[in-house]
Amino acid sequence: MKTFFSPAKVNLFLKVVNRRPDGYHNIASLFQTIDLFDELSIALDSQDSLTVSDPSIPCDETNLVLKAVNLFRRKTGLKFGVKANLNKQIPVQAGLGGGSGNAATTLWALNELCHFPATISQLADWSAEIGSDISFFFSQGTAYCTGRGEKVNNLPHPPSKTVWVIKPPQGLSTPEVYRNLNVSHLSSIHPEKDLNAFLDGKAPYFNDLETSAFRLMPALGELKQDLIARGFQTVLMTGSGSAFFCLGSGTPPKDKTLFCREVKFLNRHPDKWYNETIHHRATENSEKQ
Ligand code: C5P
Repeated sequence: MKTFFSPAKVNLFLKVVNRRPDGYHNIASLFQTIDLFDELSIALDSQDSLTVSDPSIPCDETNLVLKAVNLFRRKTGLKFGVKANLNKQIPVQAGLGGGSGNAATTLWALNELCHFPATISQLADWSAEIGSDISFFFSQGTAYCTGRGEKVNNLPHPPSKTVWVIKPPQGLSTPEVYRNLNVSHLSSIHPEKDLNAFLDGKAPYFNDLETSAFRLMPALGELKQDLIARGFQTVLMTGSGSAFFCLGSGTPPKDKTLFCREVKFLNRHPDKWYNETIHHRATENSEKQ
């Protein structure tokens, strides 16, 4: 079995542009991978089997790992089975893109195990058939994404930043957060203005899904206020929640029911998966100790 790291992402800003006739929403968002990651161990085998460390996550065909296996077989016409184990660290229903990253990592791993029948850009295009946020992971870790999220513009790596990821025990359902959104309240500022301002270091961090999420889960709005009171300069929900990322020199709460993790921005080498950057960081850290 070979192990591939499957990172999480945060949305540094997320603008919802409009609701589409197909029920999805056009968004414009700056995505960034972080070094909070699941581990996918995978090998080719005679038939499919998947085990997951978290018993609350299904191991059947609804799991994005197996959806990605089926997609890869369908697109390439190759016939094989897989034996896979997913060791989860990324909380679910968090807006951290854990499942999407697992699907992208599976596609990358299969392409490697099958001796590269597809290009990276084909993997990214195919992946949009099984989820909106999967294509992003084939960028190098920083990208401006539009459409449903599947149109990906790779951006230069930003300076590495340390952020706290903090999530209450309750999660949020992405379709529910989008459904509950009041689209008549969305701003009409052109999203590229947000991107340019952000690249100049001027724009505020924002997420148009926060209001909807806080209406569905009022305790989430209270947690944000608490985190601001604890000294964090920026506290922003990622994706459709319920996790926040926090910037600045605040003190995270001691509450054991919260998921609290200090992480760094992560970017990958164009030809390598995220493993290499994560290994490199681990070696640097052990040398410092
Ligand atoms: O594409 P994905 O499976 O991640 O989307 C899950 C659900 O989230 C969709 O069925 C849709 O209800 C909502 N969604 C949306 N607009 C997006 C992405 C997701 O409305 N851009």
